Amino acid sequence: MLFFRLIGSALLLRVANVWSGEVMATGIKQCSSGRIRYLTQSEAANLDQELFNEYKFSVDQLMELAGLSVATAVARTYPPSTYQSALIICGPGNNGGDGLVAARHMALFGYTVAVHYPKRTPKPLYENLFEQCKRFGVNIVEKLPPAQDLANNYKILVDALFGFSFKPPVRDELKPVLNTLIDSGLPVCSVDIPSGWHVEKGPDSSHALKPAMLISLSAPKLCARPEILNDTKHFLGGRFLPPEIITKYNLTLPNYPAQDQVVQLSC
Ligand SMILES: *[C@@H]1O[C@H](CO)[C@@H](O)[C@H](O)[C@H]1NC(C)=O
Ligand SMILES: *[C@@H]1O[C@H](CO)[C@@H](O)[C@H](O)[C@H]1NC(C)=O
Repeated sequence: MLFFRLIGSALLLRVANVWSGEVMATGIKQCSSGRIRYLTQSEAANLDQELFNEYKFSVDQLMELAGLSVATAVARTYPPSTYQSALIICGPGNNGGDGLVAARHMALFGYTVAVHYPKRTPKPLYENLFEQCKRFGVNIVEKLPPAQDLANNYKILVDALFGFSFKPPVRDELKPVLNTLIDSGLPVCSVDIPSGWHVEKGPDSSHALKPAMLISLSAPKLCARPEILNDTKHFLGGRFLPPEIITKYNLTLPNYPAQDQVVQLSC
């Protein structure tokens, strides 16, 4: 019996050569591991441009799905029943916009949500997302408390400061915000790229952000390789890539379970 079992598993592994999914004891959580193609910074930028120019997506559309994925992955790992109070730190670009969307969905999911959004982009998209946050009961934190005080008010942080366009060094005006994320001692969930990391090489100093969780959007970038992430939990979200893009960029992406917005890549 055992012999056949083993042969059976071996065959199964062979068939699922690229992806081996592991269904965990809960039966809900599914972790996949396998050969992923990680994008360079310029590939990530080109892929993004193609979605807008060739596939006629608007920024709002993709930002909504990205932010929903972020909120979903955060809630899967740090549910509001235990991690009631969340602070989302939003940067000036698209990554910050994803954070504003995630904040609204997290409020709907039952978190007490606060947003720190120090450099606001004067464009209707961002102004509207920010207004929606306020209307959904998100608290706006104008002045970030010192890192050691954050744990008095929050259980979980979301890092939506910098995304795949980031090139070091961090601008002086945002350095204190990044340092607060690094030094808070709270679990940090990073959106697409851990802030301050080189998009391809990862952390560039010993005083770097070490997120508890990373949610890669659309496809993981090179800094999300397991040998760099180590024990950081890794999710993929942004379930909106057209099939032709997946072929064109030779992407090897895991299958999203059923109708889920996220898939967990490492446990
Ligand atoms: C992961 O581990 C490697 C090897 O120890 C180390 O070089 C790297 O900095 C670690 N990554 C992070 C984010 O700390
Ligand atoms: C995808 O793979 C094909 C065939 O190996 C190669 O010609 C092409 O350059 C690859 N494209 C990318 C974006 O890596």
